[in-house]
Amino acid sequence: MCGIFGYIGHKTNAPTIVLEGLKRLEYRGYDSWGVAVVPEGDAENILVKKKAGKIGAATVTSMPKGTLAFGHTRWATHGGVTDVNAHPHLDCTKTIAVIHNGIVENYEALKEMLTKEGHHFVSQTDTEIIAHLVEENLKAMKPAIRDAQPAFSKAVQKAFNALDGLNAIILINTTSHEMVAARNGSPLVVGFGDGENFLASDPAALLPHTKQVHYLEDDEMVIVRPDAIHIFNARTGERVRPRKQLLTWTEKDAEKGQYPYFMLKEIYEQPGLMSEIASESTEQAKELAKQFATAYRVYVVGAGTSGHAARAASYLFSDISAHLINWGIASEFDHRLNVIPEKSLVVALSQSGETMDLMEVVKKAKAKGIGVVSIVNVVGSSLWRMADFRMPIGAGPEKGVASTKAFTSKIAHLILIAYAMKGNISDGQKLLIRAAKSAKEAVSESNVKRIKALAAKMKSVEHMFVVGKGISYPAAQECALKIKEISYIHAEGVAAGELKHGPLALVTKGTPCIVIAPNDETYRDVLGSAMEMKARGGHIIGFSYKNDEVFDDYIPVADAGEATIIPNVIVAQLLAYYLTLERGFDPDMPRNLAKSVTVK
Ligand code: AGP
Repeated sequence: MCGIFGYIGHKTNAPTIVLEGLKRLEYRGYDSWGVAVVPEGDAENILVKKKAGKIGAATVTSMPKGTLAFGHTRWATHGGVTDVNAHPHLDCTKTIAVIHNGIVENYEALKEMLTKEGHHFVSQTDTEIIAHLVEENLKAMKPAIRDAQPAFSKAVQKAFNALDGLNAIILINTTSHEMVAARNGSPLVVGFGDGENFLASDPAALLPHTKQVHYLEDDEMVIVRPDAIHIFNARTGERVRPRKQLLTWTEKDAEKGQYPYFMLKEIYEQPGLMSEIASESTEQAKELAKQFATAYRVYVVGAGTSGHAARAASYLFSDISAHLINWGIASEFDHRLNVIPEKSLVVALSQSGETMDLMEVVKKAKAKGIGVVSIVNVVGSSLWRMADFRMPIGAGPEKGVASTKAFTSKIAHLILIAYAMKGNISDGQKLLIRAAKSAKEAVSESNVKRIKALAAKMKSVEHMFVVGKGISYPAAQECALKIKEISYIHAEGVAAGELKHGPLALVTKGTPCIVIAPNDETYRDVLGSAMEMKARGGHIIGFSYKNDEVFDDYIPVADAGEATIIPNVIVAQLLAYYLTLERGFDPDMPRNLAKSVTVK
């Protein structure tokens, strides 16, 4: 969702520093952007540059110099995509500016009150009322207090506590040289520099400046000055000691390097990640296996791609360690929460660790006294901090909106945990090494050539199926999601056995049907389904360990036992990527979607 970046320090090109920070947040998806600066010297008011659309080649060199600036990439919720509705927003005096992530659920009532007090609004956003609310709070303060340094932060604190909903806000003003921020729901990270400090909605944006960060918790406020950072509880005023963490990522990790898109870079990182997980994650897998084994019931929950990994978990644990693992889609899990027995375990799967649907599940599970394990990629994220026990996915920054390496890394960890439950984790390690080899073949030059040719053949299709059975069914759903979310082809993941119960009606001459046919107990059935579709004119594309006459096109996927879901999905990731290029779209930033869905 929206991106936030703020700078305060000794450098006078603060607007440019901020714009560069916003560019590192572009991958999250946005439809407008803006930067505000407090001009150096006795600033009359705050200057803002903001536009609908992408940053592209825009610069902020025309803005005045200043050592305090912040900026925002907006994802429209209240109010259309226009220059006026872009953040930052100003108060009536143009001496207070605000940027905001989230939704102010009581903004109509606040706007009505402020209008009565004579405030004038220029945008259709909920955000704008925050600047006017702070202005009103300052007005109401006694003159003596108004001149005191803390007045601005007190006015912000009062405004923040008046907002309903899940929000992260940052405000600056022309009198007190500071950024004041608070969060409830939307992520906000403080970056500690040397004589300069930062705020961002995503730690990856801070990497060129600092690796020392503090993740704000819900209801925490922070006053950020060049030489001091004060954190306190927005509700009680109680001081909070900074929980400094060191980011383990490098700047290179978070950049595209020689790749044209983040997604392609992240696809190619997968073979190496499988080997890494095989060799480095056994201890935490054994610990989780103990927790799974002692829990009365285990429920693995996620959204989107993480939901597909959750469904895959139920197959992996039944196939590998003969354990019944329940799974669920986060947004549909409410009704299950009411009946989950005591001493159960909810396992939250998430790349970003900020998915609101999943955070709601975790909050309710904890309220019922149910244990929560988080398996997340962004260490320090909300879901990371909400859990009783946490395990890093360790895939490094994933910036393409379409999740790739985080998915296969989740599967790899789940395989290790299942083997640990079976009591022979070394077999799990060997299997992951096979998966790494098969993944390497999947991304080999010869295979990519085949996939590119297939994408060129398929670029004009509008509808297609991806069919699998057993663990290849969640694989089929994940393959379909990759294709639909970036190439905009309507791809549907279907259980092979379900075709004749309905979907087969949609197979007509030339309908592309990918069949996932690994060397396992489902092989014969899946080929039978392929023949059913071929008999209706379907164009059969086989992802399999060997070719077959029923396939009209064939992509080899080397056998990796129960881990073959990993190379199968990698082939689909590449197909989705090249279909997207063939169709002229951006694989990293698909329309209507965001990297982290921090709203319900
Ligand atoms: C996957 O390609 C999508 N970007 C989306 O479904 C994503 O998996 C989902 O929003 C969950 O995100 P999370 O893993 O960060 O919780």
